[in-house]
Amino acid sequence: MGSGHEDMIDAKGAAAAIEIARVRQEFCRDGLPVVALDSLDLSIRHNEFTVVVGPSGCGKTTLLYLMAGFEKPTSGRVLVHGREVEGPGRDRGIVFQDLALFPWRTVLGNIAFGLETARMKREDALALAREYVHLVGLEGFEKAYPNTLSGGMKQRVALARTLACEPDVLLMDEPFGALDVQTRRLMQEELVRIWETRRKTVVFVTHSVSEAVYLADTVYVLTARPGTVKGVVHVDLPRPREAPDPMVMAKRGEVLSLLESEVRKTHLMQTRPLDDAWR
Ligand SMILES: Nc1ncnc2c1ncn2[C@@H]1O[C@H](COP(=O)(O)OP(=O)(O)OP(=O)(O)O)[C@@H](O)[C@H]1O
Ligand SMILES: [Mg+2]
Repeated sequence: MGSGHEDMIDAKGAAAAIEIARVRQEFCRDGLPVVALDSLDLSIRHNEFTVVVGPSGCGKTTLLYLMAGFEKPTSGRVLVHGREVEGPGRDRGIVFQDLALFPWRTVLGNIAFGLETARMKREDALALAREYVHLVGLEGFEKAYPNTLSGGMKQRVALARTLACEPDVLLMDEPFGALDVQTRRLMQEELVRIWETRRKTVVFVTHSVSEAVYLADTVYVLTARPGTVKGVVHVDLPRPREAPDPMVMAKRGEVLSLLESEVRKTHLMQTRPLDDAWR
């Protein structure tokens, strides 16, 4: 294993925001070892929008958990801003697909929650929460309770709640997976807009190739388990990236061709064809 600081320096000479170096992650299931990730290397620049795709069970969530500090790697190194991740921290915010809003708190109360637990004065927390209500376009719904909101609106609250803590790194695990197509596209547009105005390092996991190409500066395609990097696609196209732009279609094709054989490996035991979600 390399020990030098040079590992953390990217090609442009700037320290990487996130560095994953030769990571292996093993779990134990029913007394048997399960290798989720192996020989995984990735290097993410400050303010880069990184998307991770890969077959189901290849270790994408595990990778985000390592970055978040919920898990420690069996071997290898996970560095955020040049420092080994020792546990969760306020510099990293997380948005999951199964968002856990507090049903007894209003939209504003949910967004202010993380700020209050950080011992911010209540009125300051509410003022900052209002700013984020505005950022995600939920003005007028400050006093609404989660059970009265649509799926897309709930997802906005979850995003605002995480953003309000002003993390440098945003970790997102299939955050839009449960939304209908139109709402999903709207949320993707919003996320790009927020990322462009607030500049953060984003690591976003998805099963959708079109979503990956719409969002990413860089797409990492992982192999079937144990997950390692199968290929990297740089999406150096202007945003918004809409089909049927041939450049966009070509990038989708690149990601899909890397992905397809890995998904087939995962589906080997099954006979059903590839899911539409991969397209
Ligand atoms: N705490 C755990 N204990 C045992 N096995 C685990 C644990 N967490 C994950 N795994 C296993 O590690 C592998 C990777 O899981 P992970 O959830 O990271 O995959 P994923 O790529 O996010 O899958 P999906 O696309 O379905 O969300 C799977 O085989 C999973 O069963
Ligand atoms: Mg997952």
